[in-house]
Amino acid sequence: MLGIYRSGTGNTRHCITKLLGLLDPDAELLMLSLANENQVIEKIRQNDTIILAYPTQFSNVPFMVRDFIHRNPDIWSGKKVLCMTTMGAFSGDGAGCSARLLKKRGAEIIGGLQIRMPDAVCDSKLLKKPREENQKIIREAGEKIERIAKVILKDGKYPKEGISFPAHLIGLFGQRLWFYGKTNGYSKKLKISDACVGCGLCSKNCPMKNLKIQEGRAVSKGRCTMCYQCISTCPKQAITLLGKEVWEQCRFEKYVNQNVK
Ligand SMILES: Cc1cc2nc3c(=O)[nH]c(=O)nc-3n(C[C@H](O)[C@H](O)[C@H](O)COP(=O)(O)O)c2cc1C
Ligand code: SF4
Ligand code: SF4
Repeated sequence: MLGIYRSGTGNTRHCITKLLGLLDPDAELLMLSLANENQVIEKIRQNDTIILAYPTQFSNVPFMVRDFIHRNPDIWSGKKVLCMTTMGAFSGDGAGCSARLLKKRGAEIIGGLQIRMPDAVCDSKLLKKPREENQKIIREAGEKIERIAKVILKDGKYPKEGISFPAHLIGLFGQRLWFYGKTNGYSKKLKISDACVGCGLCSKNCPMKNLKIQEGRAVSKGRCTMCYQCISTCPKQAITLLGKEVWEQCRFEKYVNQNVK
């Protein structure tokens, strides 16, 4: 078994690490980024069963993950894939969106899993929750993953969340259609304020190599997959995307470890 994931603030990484650890402690887990794409492709070729995990974005798959599937259509044939997504509140068919893409390329979809986690959008005050509430959400997500792993291991039954036709309609009309403009390509909307000191942390970690340091400041090249990794880690809170101000940076580690600021 192989796990592939994209994760901006750590939620999806946590969930797939936990599920994979319960299902197959020897399984390999790889983060998807432009820098290691060839390695990911090679591992997919070598494995029959794959868990593909990513955060829901407007009831859709992050563009980077869709782009990866489109650019590598021949690696999925015959693979058994569990599509897994994490979400802040509602995803409809967040898992189904990648399931349909993969099915078209010959994969067998063995299941869909949609897990509620803290919201990653830290530049919207509306989506901010108290720490205790996020901790409760994480606890419940962990319990759900344990229940699901038990059923898979005991009965071989995978969950079917988000991959049905009704789920497709709910995701499409509930959200995806209305936000289609935000999800049909890489974003050019990343904003970097004068607070940037050019430390380079964001450019080092961006999975899209979208950020570079120019004349002592970070600059976006317009190929952002909206993962919120840089936004949630910039020491100067200088980066925003959907909103205008960072209210409180979201990182999985912050909720589970009191010492992480
Ligand atoms: C651009 C963007 C769009 C999002 N859209 C949705 C959404 O449609 N529904 C939802 O429930 N959560 C949405 N979220 C929240 C994330 O899916 C959720 O916080 C996820 O667990 C983040 O995972 P990560 O830490 O692995 O990146 C969105 C987050 C971002 C950054
Ligand atoms: S992490 Fe923040 S301060 Fe550092 S270069 Fe990036 S935007 Fe600037
Ligand atoms: S620029 Fe920031 S939000 Fe966009 S893909 Fe890179 S790390 Fe993610």
